[in-house]
Amino acid sequence: MFLKDKKIVVMGVANSRSIAWGCAKALKAQGATLVYTYQNERMEKQLAKLAEPEDMLVECDVSNDESIRRTFSTIETRFGKIDGLVHAIAYSKKEELTGDISNVSRDGYGLAQDVSAFSLLAVSKAVKPLLNKGAGIVTLTYMGSERAIPNYNVMGIAKAALEASVRYLAVEFGKIGVHVNAISAGAIKTLAVSGVDGYKGLIRESDSRTVDGEGITIEEIGEVAAFLVSPLAAGVIGDIIYVDKGVHLT
Ligand SMILES: NC(=O)c1ccc[n+]([C@@H]2O[C@H](COP(=O)([O-])OP(=O)(O)OC[C@H]3O[C@@H](n4cnc5c(N)ncnc54)[C@H](O)[C@@H]3O)[C@@H](O)[C@H]2O)c1
Repeated sequence: MFLKDKKIVVMGVANSRSIAWGCAKALKAQGATLVYTYQNERMEKQLAKLAEPEDMLVECDVSNDESIRRTFSTIETRFGKIDGLVHAIAYSKKEELTGDISNVSRDGYGLAQDVSAFSLLAVSKAVKPLLNKGAGIVTLTYMGSERAIPNYNVMGIAKAALEASVRYLAVEFGKIGVHVNAISAGAIKTLAVSGVDGYKGLIRESDSRTVDGEGITIEEIGEVAAFLVSPLAAGVIGDIIYVDKGVHLT
C-alpha cells in the first residue's frame, strides 16, 4: 500500500478498456484516494458506472483553459493538496490517421498537438500549486513518436512533442520535488486507438512481437503508473519508460 493516504488525479477514463482505468485500479490497490476528470457528459456516464461512491468526479475539457482552471479550483477546494496526476489523454481527427503524412491539414495538426501534447503543459501548470513534495506526474505516449508507424501520422508527431514536454517539465518540477515521466505503452484496443486506420493489424502485429506473444494489458501499464506517481520513483526524472512487453526491442 505505497499510496496509502495519497490523493491522485486520474485524467482520461472513457470506459473499462481505457489505459487510465488500468491506472486507476492499480492506484486504488495501493491505497490511493482518486479524483477522476472526464471530458464531457458522455464520458461521465461511463465513468460513473466504474467509479466508487468515495471517488470524486470533475469535468475537464483540456482544450479549454477555463475548464482546466475550474477543475483544479474545484479539486483544491475539496482536497487541498494532492500527491500525483495521471494524464492519459489524446485526440486526433480520424481523417488525419490515414495515408500520407504530408496531407495533414493545419487544423488537424493543431488539434492533435493541442489535446495530446499542449494539454500536459496546461494541466501541469494548473496542478503545480496543489502538489505536495514527492508527488509524481505521469503521461502516456507511444513508440510512434520515434518510428514511422503506418497511419499513426500526426499523433506520432504529437507524441514526440509530448515526450519533449515531459523532459522540460521534469527539470522545472524537479525543483519543487515533483517527478515527471512518461510511459510508452504497447498497443491496446481502446477508443482512442480505433481512430487509427488499420488499427486491428497494428495491434495484431504488436501482440505478435511481445516476448511471450501475449498482448500488454491495461493492468500491467497501471502497475507501472502507480509506481511512477509514487515517491518510490522520486529518482526517475523525465524518462520515457517502455511498458510494452518488449515490442520496442524487436
Ligand atoms: N491504446 C494504445 O494502444 C495506446 C498506446 C500507447 C499510448 N496510448 C495513449 O494512452 C492514452 C490513453 O488512451 P487510451 O488508449 O486509453 O484511449 P481512451 O480512448 O480510452 O482514452 C483517451 C481519453 O482522452 C480523453 N480526451 C480526448 N479529448 C479530450 C479533451 N479535449 N479533454 C479531456 N479529455 C479528452 C477521452 O475522453 C478519453 O478518456 C492516450 O494518450 C493514448 O495516446 C495508447
